[in-house]
Amino acid sequence: MEMSTTLYFTALVVHIVGITIMAGTTFIDFVTFRSFGNVFQVDKAKGLVLEDYLYKLQRFMGVGMLIILASGVTMMIKLHEVWGAQIWFRIKMGVLLLIIINGLSLRRRLGSKLKKILTEDSSGDSIAGKFNRFKRDFTTVQVIQMLLFVIIYVLSIFKFN
Ligand code: HEM
Repeated sequence: MEMSTTLYFTALVVHIVGITIMAGTTFIDFVTFRSFGNVFQVDKAKGLVLEDYLYKLQRFMGVGMLIILASGVTMMIKLHEVWGAQIWFRIKMGVLLLIIINGLSLRRRLGSKLKKILTEDSSGDSIAGKFNRFKRDFTTVQVIQMLLFVIIYVLSIFKFN
């Protein structure tokens, strides 16, 4: 195997590892948030553990994104003339931007908002109403994120041109 082919395939393997971390974390974030929503008002201790875990997951999505970007750019150094001109790749870069905005900025903002809702007032009724609205926003962001991932998978594998 030629040296630069080895580098290219290595970058592709790393690409898949990054995708596993980022997309996997998105899914677990979704599942964890649902458990949190079910328990935080009835079991404070359990709620706190899950809340803490949710903030931690946020970081792993960022780490996964960095790995995906670094390996993607490495592959492009070798084949940018081939992929750069193709339609699937251009659409992919657009969807990538949406993934970054949705999954990193919006998700981070939701993280701070959750902290605010939970610390601001812990009196029963108002927190339930606020949390319901928040729950809808959080679920929307994560469902969109998972759909965006699927769109990128389809583009990257079918490579429509
Ligand atoms: C959320 C972001 C991304 C996801 C989910 C993603 C996903 C994928 C997937 C599923 C493949 C197919 C692997 C295979 O061949 O089986 C792939 C290939 C590829 N990705 Fe990405 N990717 C992302 C970001 C990027 C970025 C930012 C770049 C470049 C700057 C990039 C460059 C490439 C290239 C060049 C290939 C083609 C490898 C080949 O088939 O030879 N990707 N990506």
